Amino acid sequence: MCGIIGYSGPQEAVSVLLDGLAHMEYRGYDSAGVAVEVDGVLRVAKKAGKLANLRAELEARPLPPSHVGIGHTRWATHGGPTDLNAHPHMSSDGRIALVHNGIVENHAAIRAALEERGVEFTSQTDSEVAAQLLGVELAARGDLAEALRACCRALQGAFTLVAIDAQDPGRVVAARRSSPLVVGVGDGENFVASDVAAFINHTRDAIELGQDQVVVITPDSVEITDFDGAPAQARPYRVEWDASTAEKGGYDWFMRKEIFEQPRAIADTLLGRHDERGQLTLDEVRIGPEELRRVDKIVVLACGTAFYAGMVAKYAIEHWTRVPCEVELASEFRYRDPIVDGRTLCITISQSGETMDTLMAIRYAREQGAKVIAICNTNGSTIPRESDAVIYTHAGPEIGVASTKGFTTQLVACYLLGLFLAQVRGTLYGDEIQRVTDELAMLPELVQQVLDGADDIYALARGMVHIEDFVFLGRHVGYPAALEGALKLKELAYLHAEGFAAGELKHGPIAIIDARTPVFVVVPPAGREQLHNKVVSNLQEVRARGAKTIVLAERGDTGVRPHADALIGLPRVSTLLQPVVAIVPLQLFACELATALGNDVDQPRNLAKSVTVE
Ligand code: AGP
Repeated sequence: MCGIIGYSGPQEAVSVLLDGLAHMEYRGYDSAGVAVEVDGVLRVAKKAGKLANLRAELEARPLPPSHVGIGHTRWATHGGPTDLNAHPHMSSDGRIALVHNGIVENHAAIRAALEERGVEFTSQTDSEVAAQLLGVELAARGDLAEALRACCRALQGAFTLVAIDAQDPGRVVAARRSSPLVVGVGDGENFVASDVAAFINHTRDAIELGQDQVVVITPDSVEITDFDGAPAQARPYRVEWDASTAEKGGYDWFMRKEIFEQPRAIADTLLGRHDERGQLTLDEVRIGPEELRRVDKIVVLACGTAFYAGMVAKYAIEHWTRVPCEVELASEFRYRDPIVDGRTLCITISQSGETMDTLMAIRYAREQGAKVIAICNTNGSTIPRESDAVIYTHAGPEIGVASTKGFTTQLVACYLLGLFLAQVRGTLYGDEIQRVTDELAMLPELVQQVLDGADDIYALARGMVHIEDFVFLGRHVGYPAALEGALKLKELAYLHAEGFAAGELKHGPIAIIDARTPVFVVVPPAGREQLHNKVVSNLQEVRARGAKTIVLAERGDTGVRPHADALIGLPRVSTLLQPVVAIVPLQLFACELATALGNDVDQPRNLAKSVTVE
């Protein structure tokens, strides 16, 4: 998720671009850059780090005045946050500058084909592949818009591309597939951007591009076509938001926006996970298959929400690989004199990649000879750098302190890692892996179905503003989902909320259940009859003690209906994958209850987004 802007008009382009990028830094801040056209030559400035570094660069070495340009603020997915990997990327002949948001799935194949033709690359990014391909297409076709359409037809994945041609001053071209792009229609000037926050200081008249569309802007024209060049219609609208609301995409909180970004974040995390032979692959692998086959124990190390993702990972990894898998709180791990050696594989999960408890735990594990695979959302952060292999989640920056899209994309990455290990160790056949990856591909749509029912969950939350104690129950992978649901409520509403394994209730916790304590229950799919029936019994136990039950169960699960005071229907999905859909109502509930209580949902009291102290 990156911030992109293009401009063509009478204003000084660099200042318009920098202003736009400043309003999109929440979309990514690993690096920033601009490119402008000056007398038939492209001039580029780009720097790793926050936008301030680019501003300092431009202060020291200003670009000449220009009236057309593009800008980018990056959230790294492929290639670390360095000057070289920063956008804009250029074609080898220097004629094209391009910025990109998204993931080009077939970048490796296109890069190999271009290198065969003598094209030399300067970065490790998928984005430069798009820039070089566009340069080759432009050299062949002579027209920038035609070249961009040909480029888009060749690319697979999710992308927004914006480009300028040194020999075509005044024109900016842009294209989108499954990644946001809006046009800002000004008076004698026009804009393209990832979102309206980039240009609403200049115009509130916008056009939202549709799927597989290309737009060409000049100061006085906006032309929209499909990828084949046929004229296309797009939706014009008037932006009524102020700048702050625009940065949240119209939502009241970044966290609420990030809850609703989960379908896209999950889809992006699933993109590009197969190599040219169709085998599952990781983002960075510095550990051989033979070493992975020698592993006789797996230890998952994480904190907080990431720890709960690890608890789900345990079920999947043990089921698919038959390797014993422990899940440890990173803050406890190295103080208990754990048994770790060269045949131990540590899997560490961290959204920020900077959590000190987790970092110290993996350092300890590596000192004992273990190998470490990281699941992380922040490219180039410390934990992935100190690991032997990495799977990056592609959730984009998570601004809300309480993790939401970070959690569901961690779950997806855990499933991918479990399947990868089963593939390497041969404990699953290719068709068995394919069946699970096919179901993973359905998750964005299934999560969207849950989000479509948000209003009912909001009403439930607003009806409980007076409640002070909540209990969450689940079995199997529903248990970590219950723990995460309780954590969300603790973090956001500052209320007592506790998660239990449903089978533990009778061993003590049931003593706290009475008519004052609502109980959320995550019910396994009806197809897991043994598990399902036990949870239904637990429902009856708490109901018999007067508790109000809020039941999360598969739509059509008639067995739970008589025991539910409130029923939240979940899409049908396999047991192991159910936490991805079950957690969404609990996120929505916590967000809405905290909002109703007047809390700061994005920055809850006492909490930090990344805990970089032990
Ligand atoms: C989650 O809502 C919390 N913000 C917190 O538990 C977080 O998951 C934990 O601190 C781990 O952070 P990390 O994923 O960045 O390592």
